[in-house]
Amino acid sequence: MNVLWLCFTVTVTLFSVDAQLNSNCNSNDSMVLKRFMDGMESAIDGWTSNSSNCCDWDGITCDSTGKDNVLIGHLHNSNPSNLVYLDVSLNYLSGNLPDFFHNFPNLTYFAAHSNNLNGGIPLSLLNSRSISSLILRNNSFSGSIELNCSAMVNLVLLDLVDNKFTGSIPNNLPSCPSLKTIDLGGNNLTGQIPESFKGFNSLCYLLLSMCNLNNLSGSLQILQNCPNLTTLVLSQSFDSEEMPSDANLQFKRLKTLMIPNCKLTGMIPVWLNGLTKLQILDLSWNELTGRIPHFLGHLQSLVYLDLSNNYLNGEIPKSLTQLPDLQFHDNPLELSLEFPVFMRRGMNGNVLRYSYGTRFPPTLDLSNNFLTGPIWPEFGNLTNLHVLNLKYNELSGTIPSNLANLTSIETLDLSHNDLTGEIPLSLVRLGMLSKFSVAYNNLTGIIPSGGQFSTFSVSSFEGNPGLCGEFVLSCVKNQESLHARVFEDIEESIISLPVWTGFGIGFLFAVILLLVLPRIRDTQNMDKFE
Ligand SMILES: *[C@@H]1O[C@H](CO)[C@@H](O)[C@H](O)[C@H]1NC(C)=O
Ligand SMILES: *[C@@H]1O[C@H](CO)[C@@H](O)[C@H](O)[C@H]1NC(C)=O
Ligand SMILES: *[C@@H]1O[C@H](CO)[C@@H](O)[C@H](O)[C@H]1NC(C)=O
Ligand SMILES: *[C@@H]1O[C@H](CO)[C@@H](O)[C@H](O)[C@H]1NC(C)=O
Ligand SMILES: *[C@@H]1O[C@H](CO)[C@@H](O)[C@H](O)[C@H]1NC(C)=O
Ligand SMILES: *[C@@H]1O[C@H](CO)[C@@H](O)[C@H](O)[C@H]1NC(C)=O
Ligand SMILES: *[C@@H]1O[C@H](CO)[C@@H](O)[C@H](O)[C@H]1NC(C)=O
Ligand SMILES: *[C@@H]1O[C@H](CO)[C@@H](O)[C@H](O)[C@H]1NC(C)=O
Ligand SMILES: *[C@@H]1O[C@H](CO)[C@@H](O)[C@H](O)[C@H]1NC(C)=O
Ligand SMILES: *[C@@H]1O[C@H](CO)[C@@H](O)[C@H](O)[C@H]1NC(C)=O
Ligand SMILES: *[C@@H]1O[C@H](CO)[C@@H](O)[C@H](O)[C@H]1NC(C)=O
Repeated sequence: MNVLWLCFTVTVTLFSVDAQLNSNCNSNDSMVLKRFMDGMESAIDGWTSNSSNCCDWDGITCDSTGKDNVLIGHLHNSNPSNLVYLDVSLNYLSGNLPDFFHNFPNLTYFAAHSNNLNGGIPLSLLNSRSISSLILRNNSFSGSIELNCSAMVNLVLLDLVDNKFTGSIPNNLPSCPSLKTIDLGGNNLTGQIPESFKGFNSLCYLLLSMCNLNNLSGSLQILQNCPNLTTLVLSQSFDSEEMPSDANLQFKRLKTLMIPNCKLTGMIPVWLNGLTKLQILDLSWNELTGRIPHFLGHLQSLVYLDLSNNYLNGEIPKSLTQLPDLQFHDNPLELSLEFPVFMRRGMNGNVLRYSYGTRFPPTLDLSNNFLTGPIWPEFGNLTNLHVLNLKYNELSGTIPSNLANLTSIETLDLSHNDLTGEIPLSLVRLGMLSKFSVAYNNLTGIIPSGGQFSTFSVSSFEGNPGLCGEFVLSCVKNQESLHARVFEDIEESIISLPVWTGFGIGFLFAVILLLVLPRIRDTQNMDKFE
């Protein structure tokens, strides 16, 4: 995935580099680049200078030594028309791409993302023997996707995210012999995963978010026959279908499975049991019912579990507190996406985007379900956990003091449950904690102070009638807790607040009366005089 990273750094440093290493432009390269630009409806920023030396153009570095250390265009002076790397992303380009790529017989990397290009992909690009990475996302390309895989023997990465392609997923993609990563998300494709994907050996990353697909069951039947598939992302498709329950589905190599935002019904399926390599599982924002199965806790590599926003009920299986990679510190886990971009729907319906390098901190997100029962003290064993989100459930019992052992925790949200008892004072030990909420429970006692707790606002604690603290004004009278008496002063000042306000209003009233009454008397007197 070095290519992807390269792409990113390139676009970031695009015009910040003074590209005048050495040498003059090879006249063949210069001519080809000029003609390429002439083929565009709009000029390419920084290529329009009057210098005939294309080595002076923005983002082009000429390298007579032939080393691969260049930015937009990579020109080996020793070879004619030997462009290997061309990135015209983020250049406000519009119109069609010129059908010109047969002039770049050595081009392996072509990126033109985040422009306003439209029309189809030029034939010479769809027949390029040399291209290995084709990155055209975030444009307005349209038509159906028709690669010539007999020609595109070196294609590894196909990124056509966020365009206006239509039709079905091309069924010839498995005959592109090197194709490893496919991301067609955000196009109005239809139908299902083609039957031909069975035995798509080179495929590792398949991302088809927001593609309007159907037949999840059939699609999984087909994809389980891709022996090297490690990442499968299918968000926002398969509208309201049932979660496939065929216990025989097998994805032995899958490390990432994301099928969120599909309104899927049914239960969390048993076949997940066999995904022994799974690290990331996201089934959020569906309509799944039933319990969270115990076996999820036995997935040896699982570090990111998002089952939020479903209709799951029952207790949280204790096995989730035994996930090995969440327990032990020695392997510092920080997954990041090895693939480009995909989308999912956020809390208020807006589309969230994950992009290159999005962090996947070790997470258990079970929020917005109907889970009951206690928060197990054993959760405290998950010293590698960064995010524990249990909000909007029906969890009861107390907050276990063992949670103070969650030394890596950054987000701890227990709000909107039926928790009782006190907030364990030991939680102030959690030095990484930056988001914390126990709002809307039935907690009592004193809000701990110090540590990270001095940074939390009242919204972290509100909706607990029995909770006292510096800024929570809703202390219940008859507070029996010993701690509560320590804070009697605070309580008193809170209680006396309305009294003082009452005094103030009374005083004002008196003044007004004193000012107004004589006049009333006066007018009465005047009346008398009349
Ligand atoms: C570049 O050439 C154009 C005509 O093609 C001319 O109008 C312009 O002044 C020239 N700019 C420079 C900096 O020489
Ligand atoms: C340009 O290309 C032609 C034909 O491939 C070749 O003969 C010529 O040497 C090249 N010119 C340069 C400066 O490399
Ligand atoms: C460039 O392409 C030509 C023709 O396909 C080939 O002969 C040459 O070896 C390539 N050069 C490099 C550096 O790949
Ligand atoms: C898409 O491209 C536009 C420019 O055409 C850019 O402003 C925007 O940030 C890009 N969006 C993404 C998600 O990359
Ligand atoms: C696809 O590529 C092969 C090999 O380069 C070529 O023979 C064939 O004509 C191409 N097909 C189309 C439809 O362009
Ligand atoms: C997607 O395509 C289908 C038919 O192919 C069409 O009915 C639908 O309106 C399109 N959706 C969008 C958002 O363009
Ligand atoms: C994919 O899997 C097959 C069979 O398991 C294996 O032979 C092959 O090397 C793997 N890699 C690629 C890129 O096909
Ligand atoms: C779903 O896909 C499978 C496998 O391709 C196929 O057998 C089945 O008929 C499809 N079902 C529907 C409803 O299209
Ligand atoms: C987990 O925590 C419980 C209680 O906090 C403890 O008794 C148990 O030994 C721990 N288990 C492991 C595997 O660390
Ligand atoms: C976890 O917390 C409990 C209660 O706060 C404590 O008794 C126990 O020793 C802690 N365990 C570890 C491994 O730190
Ligand atoms: C809160 O807990 C008290 C007992 O501690 C109980 O009387 C009360 O009904 C509970 N309130 C809610 C809203 O559950």
